[in-house]
Amino acid sequence: MISFEHSIATAVAKTDAFSETEVLQLLSIPQETTHGNFSLPCFALAKKMRKAPKLIAEELATQIQLPKELSKVEPVNGYLNFFIDRSFLASSVLTEIQEEGLLYGHAKPNGKTVIIDFSSPNIGKELAFHHLRSTMIGNSLSRIYKASGYHVERINHLGDWGTAFGKLIVMYLRDGGSLEEEALEALTVKELNILYSAFSKASLENPELENEARVVFTKLEEGDSLYRKLWTAFKKATLKELNRIYKMMDVSFDHYTGESFFEDRIPAVLEELREKELLVKSQELDVVMLDEFDLPPCLIRKSDGSTLYATRDLAAALYRKKEFNFTKCLYVVDLGQSLHFKQVFHVLKKMGYDWHKNMHHIPFGVILQQTEEGKWEKGKTRSGKSNLLRDVIEAAGNKILAFIDEKNPDLENKKEIATQIGISALTFNDLKNRRTIDVKFDWDSALSFDGATGPYVQNAHVRLCSIMRKANYTAKISDADWGILTNDAAYELLKVLQRKSANIQKACETDEPSALAQYALEIAEAAHRFIHQDRVLGSPEEKSRLFLVQSTQVVLENVLTLLGLFPIRQM
Ligand code: ARG
Repeated sequence: MISFEHSIATAVAKTDAFSETEVLQLLSIPQETTHGNFSLPCFALAKKMRKAPKLIAEELATQIQLPKELSKVEPVNGYLNFFIDRSFLASSVLTEIQEEGLLYGHAKPNGKTVIIDFSSPNIGKELAFHHLRSTMIGNSLSRIYKASGYHVERINHLGDWGTAFGKLIVMYLRDGGSLEEEALEALTVKELNILYSAFSKASLENPELENEARVVFTKLEEGDSLYRKLWTAFKKATLKELNRIYKMMDVSFDHYTGESFFEDRIPAVLEELREKELLVKSQELDVVMLDEFDLPPCLIRKSDGSTLYATRDLAAALYRKKEFNFTKCLYVVDLGQSLHFKQVFHVLKKMGYDWHKNMHHIPFGVILQQTEEGKWEKGKTRSGKSNLLRDVIEAAGNKILAFIDEKNPDLENKKEIATQIGISALTFNDLKNRRTIDVKFDWDSALSFDGATGPYVQNAHVRLCSIMRKANYTAKISDADWGILTNDAAYELLKVLQRKSANIQKACETDEPSALAQYALEIAEAAHRFIHQDRVLGSPEEKSRLFLVQSTQVVLENVLTLLGLFPIRQM
């Protein structure tokens, strides 16, 4: 990948006025296009050289030997303005895309491993709309890290352990649920959801049930065979539905090591905490004190011996470090769990693991929906409609299908395409802003084909594909005349394409898929402008312009994929 910044730095450093590092720090991109592509302020030199910055810039401009990728350097009021050679930009960017294809802008493997813990829902319940956030931010981050050279391990830390299972078991048996293999096999997560709500209702009338559930869970922990059998069936039923939804969203995991997986690793953690004299008794509980960090104690073990969420996260962290020797471990979990992760990371610190520094909570805000009165609230839907993720996905698909039926009723596989556009629209809506900002969800703006939406960026991709299909041509370097791709629309688009690697890097360094979502919008806009301004098909410049169209399509396709959007070719 060419770096114009580096070529400028090298050329300027040869004059001895600045070092390369100084140039790289000072270079900026001017607002006005007439001021060139990069601008270098010379004010810092005034004192040392005892000259006015304006004069310094003028002198330097005559001394700098321009490399071939730059067309001119112009001194203006103490700044040096550098202009990229447009034809060089076209040839270098497009040749590189031609050679590297979808991997253009990706980094070489760096030998480092990153763990991404995401989605991680609780077993026994259906995925709710809000689960989309962790799932899609995590999915996108895992693709972004891979593109940045990391080896990625995607982990689904399922919530498959805890008193919730005591509740489900109590309710199942109370309802006279069958213990036959076949019946257990046929169990659905929908039924479990109903059991769960039934438990909440029943326990209001009969508070003793809560106790019963706790006892059942303790027995489950101790290995009771009937309870284990039910627990296994509940987990299986949930996973079946989870996997159906993940498949639909094209989300996958390398490991489904949920909380229960760490059950037999817990004693060793407790032992280690005891050995390191970190475990303290506090009101019948075993805790690790964290006052020195201004944090409340981390709860490790209850009086009845059962363990807690944090204990299992400690065991999981130790296991992951040993198993994968990660450079970084990310937890894509809502903002509400910030305290939990702070506590877990600080306990690791107290245990003497300096890699606690490499553990990062990647928080995100909630999804807000409008109530009847027009107020934005969490977890509410208009007219009490279901807030299950599967229902939201289905509704999105149906709305898009109605649109396709109107515009392009003969489209092949239209139902599947409509679902993919619908999922992409929901995803883009989640990823387009910084992740800690709450998402205001409303159907009209999420599904619109105009504005900062999934359908808008997908449509840009569709248009590029459609031009290539109509041309029935595959770009060849020997056919291209770079000089044709130097007018403003082509040049602006090329500048955008050139920034793919920088944008992937930015998204990775900040753990912000939004950086790439904004980039997808930039590509879509620049592509639309180019297609509008320069006639591609049937023009004498057709082949060179098709080269740019095809390259833009390839870049956009990959950026959509890195975001977890479906790069649709026809709609
Ligand atoms: N199951 C938890 C929940 O639904 C999220 C788990 C996140 N991952 C973790 N390692 N704690 O709230």
